[in-house]
Amino acid sequence: MQPYLAFNHYLGKRVHLGVCGSISAFKALELLRMLQGTGAHLSATLTPSAMRFVTPLSFEALGAAPVYGEMFDTRDALYGHLDPGQDADGFVIAPATANTIAKLACGLADDMLSCQTLAFPHPLVIAPAMNPRLWNAAATRENWAKLNERGHVCIEPECGAMACGEEGRGRLPQLERIYLQALRAVTRQDMAGRKVLITLGPTREPFDCVRFWSNPSTGTMGAALAVAAWLRGADVTAICGPVDLWLPEGITRVDVSTAREMFEAASDVFSEVDVACFSAAVADYRPANPSAEKFKKGQGELQVQFEANPDILKTLGTRKSQQQFLIGFAAESGQLDANCRAKLTAKKLDLIVGNDVTAQGCGFGHSTNGVTVLDAKGRMEIWPVLAKTEVAWRVWDWMLGL
Ligand code: CTP
Repeated sequence: MQPYLAFNHYLGKRVHLGVCGSISAFKALELLRMLQGTGAHLSATLTPSAMRFVTPLSFEALGAAPVYGEMFDTRDALYGHLDPGQDADGFVIAPATANTIAKLACGLADDMLSCQTLAFPHPLVIAPAMNPRLWNAAATRENWAKLNERGHVCIEPECGAMACGEEGRGRLPQLERIYLQALRAVTRQDMAGRKVLITLGPTREPFDCVRFWSNPSTGTMGAALAVAAWLRGADVTAICGPVDLWLPEGITRVDVSTAREMFEAASDVFSEVDVACFSAAVADYRPANPSAEKFKKGQGELQVQFEANPDILKTLGTRKSQQQFLIGFAAESGQLDANCRAKLTAKKLDLIVGNDVTAQGCGFGHSTNGVTVLDAKGRMEIWPVLAKTEVAWRVWDWMLGL
């Protein structure tokens, strides 16, 4: 699990996992583990066809409880066919076959899983897997459209090579996509209706056509902020420097390379957002006159002239409206409090998150961070070293006044 997706805020939540008969049914075990890692309690139902591919015992051994199978299995609770609807917060069907999708669309209830889904009062999260011909069949198209219209969270299957050797759309969605949609379905939507802008990652400033000036930022902190805000219902735009990380499709992603590109992209959306959070490690300077041709060695000492990049946050801070909430980061190697205070004022911030990049477990590339947080009202806290996902969650809590 990538560190910016590893949230653990779901203790006390129950997620029910429905598994249908598909060669990809074994992946439901991995999904179960991923969801359990959040603190959520998992239970499961396997259809009779699913039990041809994986066994209830596999799910039980990994801690899912209860695990349902046959409708009239005597070991199951008498009213098991109604169960998850009574106390599960979320219901995920992965993989969902063409047959189960058809049953969901029509409201059939002839096995444990279809009864339980019909009795479940909230939107389902549905992740299909099937042969592309089954997926493209007119009946499946209609059934899928019906489930979308009903407000279920319908995750499109992916394209690629199928187990049967055919190519096309029908592969089980990447597990991270299902995992995040499952979490979002059980997360309090306390950031719903807010538009959030986040800058993240480094910038690259070209020196010639093959070299650049940059820093080791991986974008982990910004990605954790973006995903946390999206899980909590915000409408998120992430302006990403060159980073190797995936974001869920619900987040609007703008990829940029240089500080000037990041500045332009951020300026384009700034006036429309309610919250802007600048976590990018922007290069303050760029080589002047970058060459379109590769620089050749052998000319003795190399002197590079730099010119200043725009300070994105400081410039946009001057355009901030009364209603907008502005969050900045500070990467420091000393005098953390004083430098944070100075940046809070100079950049007209509502909140600043400062970290000492030389401290253990902090800064670039780590999955953890130890930060000092200060706001414009004078509140200040020093947090211990925490997962970046936890730092992100707490930053949004602070912004919401929780
Ligand atoms: N920032 C920005 N544009 C820049 C430089 C910084 O938007 N050209 C933002 C960062 O995203 C961060 C905040 O300003 O939210 C502080 O960045 P930091 O690198 O800590 O400080 P600088 O303002 O660059 O000052 P210095 O490097 O002198 O500490």
